[in-house]
Amino acid sequence: MTKELFKGSILFGPVPAVLVTTINREGQANIFTVGWTGVACSHPPLVTIAVRKERLSYENIRATGEFVINLTTGKMLKMTDFCGCRSGRKVDKIKHFGLELEPGVDVAVPSLKISPVALECRVRSVTELGSHDLFIAEIVRNKVDASLIDKDGRIRLGEAGLLAYCHGEYFALGRRPLATFGHSVAKKAVRQARQQKKNQDRKGKKESF
Ligand SMILES: Cc1cc2nc3c(=O)[nH]c(=O)nc-3n(C[C@H](O)[C@H](O)[C@H](O)COP(=O)(O)O)c2cc1C
Repeated sequence: MTKELFKGSILFGPVPAVLVTTINREGQANIFTVGWTGVACSHPPLVTIAVRKERLSYENIRATGEFVINLTTGKMLKMTDFCGCRSGRKVDKIKHFGLELEPGVDVAVPSLKISPVALECRVRSVTELGSHDLFIAEIVRNKVDASLIDKDGRIRLGEAGLLAYCHGEYFALGRRPLATFGHSVAKKAVRQARQQKKNQDRKGKKESF
């Protein structure tokens, strides 16, 4: 491949486009879209979001030390874009889309009913970086839509049709994975057993229609 050179910038993707819920001191909820989010640590479970100081959501998170990351799906495309283009200072985005909220379990911040997975987060630290401040937060509770949990209790996140953002464009993940974790180093017998299981699962699915 022949590469052309560009000055350093965030040419990085895909990233998840998530909807983050927050509340102000009076308990009024707001949502905004975040693409600069990621996993920082497995144990304890830490995530990051990078937020500009001028956002209403920034004020809310600073005031309460809590937020909820709501994963988004293809069905949530329009609201994900809108909530990233309009501030809660001007529009009540929750009313605008008639969104139903579910009360927080371990935080005071509600989550979005329409989202398949909500991560309740408590802020651990805030670092000023430049355009954005980086919040590192601990996930204190996960809420997962029952439709994504299979009969063996496994969470099938890949089936949610999650939304990704890549250099100005949105994509929904396909439901068929290309492969599973560890397939490149798995022994042939393990690969065959996995394939067999997959075929059986697929057959089972078809028969149930
Ligand atoms: C796809 C997408 C990703 C975004 N990612 C971020 C982000 O990571 N950090 C941020 O501060 N703003 C981000 N924004 C912009 C905010 O969501 C936007 O300014 C929003 O209107 C702020 O709302 P608020 O004032 O109600 O908090 C993003 C917008 C879009 C459309």
